[in-house]
Amino acid sequence: MSGTYRTVARVGEIPEGEGRSFEVDDRIIAVIRDRGVYFAIDDHCPHQGAPLCDGIVADGTVTCTWHGWRFSLEDGRWLDSPKSKVRVDTYPIRVEGDEIQVLV
Ligand code: FES
Repeated sequence: MSGTYRTVARVGEIPEGEGRSFEVDDRIIAVIRDRGVYFAIDDHCPHQGAPLCDGIVADGTVTCTWHGWRFSLEDGRWLDSPKSKVRVDTYPIRVEGDEIQVLV
């Protein structure tokens, strides 16, 4: 996979246990901080499109606020139905200096 790391925010701009939404190229990406680690996932719940950046973050998961579907921050799997192929896309993310960067 080729791509470019894009700076979306600075360290400290995303509080612990919260997410923020960023537009990168044509994608809307949620950057979520859980226990000091940043994750980047599609900011679009596959159920009915709620913004996952507003979800409830706990223990490596984000729970959609509209109807409670839960997703893994690590790999985007829909955790409520382990056999389902439903998932949200995830993106590599890194911190360079004080910049949070997402690979798209
Ligand atoms: S829109 Fe996310 S659970 Fe329904």
